[in-house]
This record gives sequence, structure tokens and C-alpha cells, in this order.
Amino acid sequence: MVSTTINGVAPLTFVEPRTLPRYPDNTPAHDAYGRRIDYLRVSLTDRCNMRCVYCMPTVGMQFAPRPEMLTNDELLLVIHAAAAAGFRKLRLTGGEPTLRTDLVELVRAMKATPGIEHIAMTTNAIRLRTLAEPLQAAGLDRVNISIDSLNSQKFRQVTRGGDLHAVWEGIEAAVAAGLDPIKLNAVIVREMNDDEVGALAALTLKYPWELRFIEVMPLTGVADLANAGIVRSAELIEQIEALFGPLESLGHTASDSARRYRIPGAPGKIGLISSVTDPFCATCNRMRLTADGRLHLCLLRDNEVELRTAIRNGASQDDIEQLIRHAVAIKPWGHGLPEGMLPTLRGMSQLGG
Ligand code: 5AD
Ligand code: SF4
Repeated sequence: MVSTTINGVAPLTFVEPRTLPRYPDNTPAHDAYGRRIDYLRVSLTDRCNMRCVYCMPTVGMQFAPRPEMLTNDELLLVIHAAAAAGFRKLRLTGGEPTLRTDLVELVRAMKATPGIEHIAMTTNAIRLRTLAEPLQAAGLDRVNISIDSLNSQKFRQVTRGGDLHAVWEGIEAAVAAGLDPIKLNAVIVREMNDDEVGALAALTLKYPWELRFIEVMPLTGVADLANAGIVRSAELIEQIEALFGPLESLGHTASDSARRYRIPGAPGKIGLISSVTDPFCATCNRMRLTADGRLHLCLLRDNEVELRTAIRNGASQDDIEQLIRHAVAIKPWGHGLPEGMLPTLRGMSQLGG
């Protein structure tokens, strides 16, 4: 095993699969804290057709060269191995996952993988107008759509050029295709779209959608967003209640990142994802696969396990399953944001939220 060390920790682990102690392969993978890890977030590309201020820096974005990205066959090998290790749910992310060529075929093959029960996707919806229907037919169950403003000028500002009308058409296509339930993600940035909270929350009065407000995370490239102060979930609730009256609390289901509320009588729900002020590490059930073939063990830490090298050295599905079980076994607990420990090696657009 070779590890590169940064600040005394070993963020990147290269393991020769055959040197690992053999993990039992007849049980779903659990980590050292007893958490069952069965949810894989799969970044299909680090590229995007938008440039959201909270996701990418204005200058200096570097994208993975194509040869470093997993091919479809390599990706499907990892998905099969993950399913064998007990993973049941996939979420396709990016960058923007709809930029991946052969996306529909990939979804079909992923859904046909024994053990995979559910596939969701987080998208900016720009390309859903044409893709929603074929993706649903191929086996995609649900989408989460990013929408940070209902004002087209402000939307363009937050996404650095995004077209709100195209996003809205994408949402309508997702509804028409039966990608149900629809969840919308809004990242609220102070002095940018913090005046849009009421309008976004009001969508739940009209539509049966879940509007999820996400606390901005100061990842690489966008760390200075935290300078003006993070808009905390508690503050958002105050703002929403000042407009619509007391919210009805719907609690949150285990392993879900959102605390749910409803404006009394509304068909839709409001979700608050307080990754910074109230992390959900205790019920974390997820790992991430980067487009360049590494398992990223915690969104807010740098630790990764390299899979691509093993795959290109001829590792079998069983070898990859053992590497995935190893990654689960060394998955860390909790992030270090309160101690000022920021992940530095990858930005959000490489991790897919
Ligand atoms: N903090 C919080 N959420 C973010 N997202 C992107 N960047 C950030 C950030 N810095 C979310 C967006 C998108 C999802 C992929 O990740 O809401 O929907
Ligand atoms: Fe693209 Fe999503 Fe990042 Fe916006 S948040 S730049 S839509 S990957």
C-alpha cells in the first residue's frame, strides 16, 4: 500500500488489491463506525455547461484530461463491484451529468446491474427537455434540479450565464416524464440570492415538489464565499416563517441529509440541508466515485482510494469489490470544518455535491 501524505494525513491511498486482507464478501459493506454504506454518488464528468458562483471559480478551472476519465466499461465494472459490495442506490452527478455521452445507455446498463435498486440524478436541467423521457425509459427514477433564483437576470448572475427558461422547460419535461418526486436544490449565497428565499419557498404552495435549501460549503475555489457569512439554515427558517407563518415539521428519515418542513396546507415540502451548521455524519450512508476513478470517502475531506490504476492493471470485479470494501472500512467520521480543516484537493464540480 502506498499513501501520499499531506499535513500528516494520508489522503490518497493506492492499494494493490491482492495485498489486502480479504473482506468477507457475503455481507453488505459497513464502515468502522457501524454505518452501512450503500449509496454511491457517481460523478460522470467534471465539466459543466454553467459556472455557478458557489461551485466553480471565475478563473483557473482545470478539467480532467479525457484519458484520465473512466470509460463506460470501466465505470460499469465499478458499479457491478459496488453492487456486489452491497451498494443499492446510485446518484449520477457531475459537473453536469447530462454532458456525458451515452448517458441513456449508461443508465440502462446501471439499472440492469443486479443489486442496484434505485438511480437518481442531480442536474442543472438544461438538457432535460430532450433527455428526461429517454432517461426515464432507461431506468432513471428521480432527479434533483438546481435552481437558485426565479428571476432570470439573477439566475444568470448566480450561474454565470445560465438560462432560467431552459431550466424551467427541463423541470416541466421531468414532470411529464414521471421522474417523481421532483426535488429542487437552491444554494443560498449572502448578498447574491438571499432575497429569493421567499419566492423559492412559495413554489411549494403551487407544486408538489420538495424545495431544498442547501448551506453553501466553502470548498476549493469558492472558499471566499464564506467571507460575507454563510446563510445558515436557522436563518432561512426564520425568513420563511416571517413570510408564511410557522412551518410544520416533518422530521427527517434516517440517512437523509434534509430536515423537512411544510408550509401548512402546501402540496410541496421544504427541505433544509445544513451541512455546515448541523452535519449528518452519524447517518451518512454514502461514498463518491470521481469521474477519474477514485473513491472519495467524505465530501468534506480529501481522503480517496484510487481504483483506476487497479482497473487498468487488469483487476477483476472481485478485486475492485475488495478495494471498495477497503474504502468503506477506512471511511472517516465527521468533517473538520469547525476546526478550519478545509478539503483542498477537489472542488465541488469534481465531487457532485
Ligand atoms: N455548497 C453547497 N452546495 C453546492 N452545490 C454546488 N456547490 C455547492 C457548494 N459550494 C450543490 C448544488 C448542486 C449540487 C450538485 O451541489 O446545489 O445542486
Ligand atoms: Fe454546473 Fe452544478 Fe456546478 Fe452549477 S453547481 S456549475 S450547474 S456542476
